[in-house]
Amino acid sequence: MDEMKEGDITSGTHLSYWAESLTPPRALPALNQDMETEVVIVGGGLAGLSVAYCLTQAGRKVVLVEDGLIGSGETGRTTAHLVTVLDDRYYKLEKNFGVEKTKQIALSHAAAIDFVERTVKKENIDCDFERVDGYLSIHPSDEAASLKKEHEACSRAGINVSEWDEVLKGYGRSLRFPGQAQFHPVKYLKGLCEAILKKGGKIYTQTHASEISHEGIKTLSGHRIKAKHVVVATNSPVNNKYALHLKQYAYRTYVIGALIKKDSLYKALWWDTGDYKMNPEIPPYHYVRISKYNDTHDLLISGGEDHPIADTSNNNIPEEGRYKALEEWTREHFHFENIAYRWSGQVLEPMDGLAYIGRNPFDQDNVYIVTGDSGNGMTHCTIAGMLITDLIIGKENPWEEIYKPSRFTLKASKPFFKEVFGALLASIKKDPDHKDHIQVSSVKKGQAKQFELEGETCGVYRDEEGFLHMVSSTCTHLGCKLKWNNDEKSWDCACHGSRFSFEGKVINGPANKDLSACSELVKVKDH
Ligand SMILES: Cc1cc2nc3c(=O)[nH]c(=O)nc-3n(C[C@H](O)[C@H](O)[C@H](O)COP(=O)(O)OP(=O)(O)OC[C@H]3O[C@@H](n4cnc5c(N)ncnc54)[C@H](O)[C@@H]3O)c2cc1C
Ligand code: FES
Repeated sequence: MDEMKEGDITSGTHLSYWAESLTPPRALPALNQDMETEVVIVGGGLAGLSVAYCLTQAGRKVVLVEDGLIGSGETGRTTAHLVTVLDDRYYKLEKNFGVEKTKQIALSHAAAIDFVERTVKKENIDCDFERVDGYLSIHPSDEAASLKKEHEACSRAGINVSEWDEVLKGYGRSLRFPGQAQFHPVKYLKGLCEAILKKGGKIYTQTHASEISHEGIKTLSGHRIKAKHVVVATNSPVNNKYALHLKQYAYRTYVIGALIKKDSLYKALWWDTGDYKMNPEIPPYHYVRISKYNDTHDLLISGGEDHPIADTSNNNIPEEGRYKALEEWTREHFHFENIAYRWSGQVLEPMDGLAYIGRNPFDQDNVYIVTGDSGNGMTHCTIAGMLITDLIIGKENPWEEIYKPSRFTLKASKPFFKEVFGALLASIKKDPDHKDHIQVSSVKKGQAKQFELEGETCGVYRDEEGFLHMVSSTCTHLGCKLKWNNDEKSWDCACHGSRFSFEGKVINGPANKDLSACSELVKVKDH
């Protein structure tokens, strides 16, 4: 395995602390032959590797393919809180699922944290796993009564919770949740990889699955893997064109990593319930933790300022402007020195607050997916490891019905569709920067523009060295027009969350094909 290098594939141009701090290996050989196996898994993030780990522990033959490097996707951009305190409040989950199922939901996330803790010990994974307390504060825009409602619903779900003092200035009393956890996500992935390989599992990186069916996959380089079971763990399922993408929606979320004096603040997880004035349907919330950094400093990792992909101009703040608001909020509540990291990522919000894990709807019974894990992917992906393994080996699992991807939660559909259609409407308003013709020389370094070329919409970006990158800006999923994300230098799709690098490489599904070149003029340096 090679060392992480600058320019390695991630789903954006900013490198997260996890990616940058990782000296251990992330690349394995690419697939260069046809093969046959029991289970083929597509995706080398936490979901794919958790499924591969559980299956190899159960003695199954597994091959995993990843088109970037290990952790190239959202797992390399996460903040890695492992929690039973989910993004959606328990009193809301009770409305969608009822009290009994909500208890099972809480149990499944607690079991996922226990699973990670056991695995770290068993496999001796050096990934800074530690149990920490979590504190939930009611955002000033939320109803004061939410604290009591959530306290009662969490108690009914069997979660250890108590009322606590104010922990975020001006937010009033909070709820304290002992026994939550955190880790270094990419070091954990590395540990899983080693355990999988030790048990005879096979992992190939830089191997793109371009065709996926119930019989297996075909890679971009033309190799086939035939399998009895196919697991698609690509975050957004690239094998499911329609059904799932009507029940979840992509949000961008932002992170800063700031230096604080070592051991100056106790380790914990802090969250607020989100800004209801900003978005009453899915209020963007803040999430904060601390990580080891160096001999003199710890890293305060603060996230938030989420918005639906379509609504990048929400409050007129472009993507790259979101860090300022995040920095201001973080300064109000925590003391820190300089900011060492900035990165953003994408989360898929399911309509009812729970991930979709299990058999792919409208497909053969041997095809499985994991998606919609919102800001709780660490536990959802771990649940997927246990649940999909049970489905494959034919063992009953109490969570199968709860996470079934074919479910439709009518009670949750109204606010969800209101949110999604609002965002989509905002996205189809013509981009004010879109032009019928442009002078290529008017595109400055670091800038992107869109224009028409012989009936095709093109996007052109000039990189910092002056090279122009010109690609079709029509999404290869279902043909929506793409928008430029100036923060991560990518072409993003407001319809279902696909993303493409400025060179046109697909970096987030559901699209599974790169953008085509807009003309012969793909990489020209013009002065
Ligand atoms: C900023 C941020 C903060 C977050 N914070 C938290 C948190 O604190 N706690 C929490 O629980 N969750 C959090 N999440 C959510 C969590 O990180 C994700 O849900 C989780 O990492 C998703 O893992 P995954 O394996 O499903 O997807 P990914 O990690 O994206 O893995 C999918 C992989 O599939 C690969 N792939 C895609 N298509 C193909 C193909 N055709 N062929 C081969 N490979 C392919 C991709 O390259 C990628 O590596 C956060 C997310 C973000 C963005
Ligand atoms: S993601 Fe569906 S059309 Fe772009």
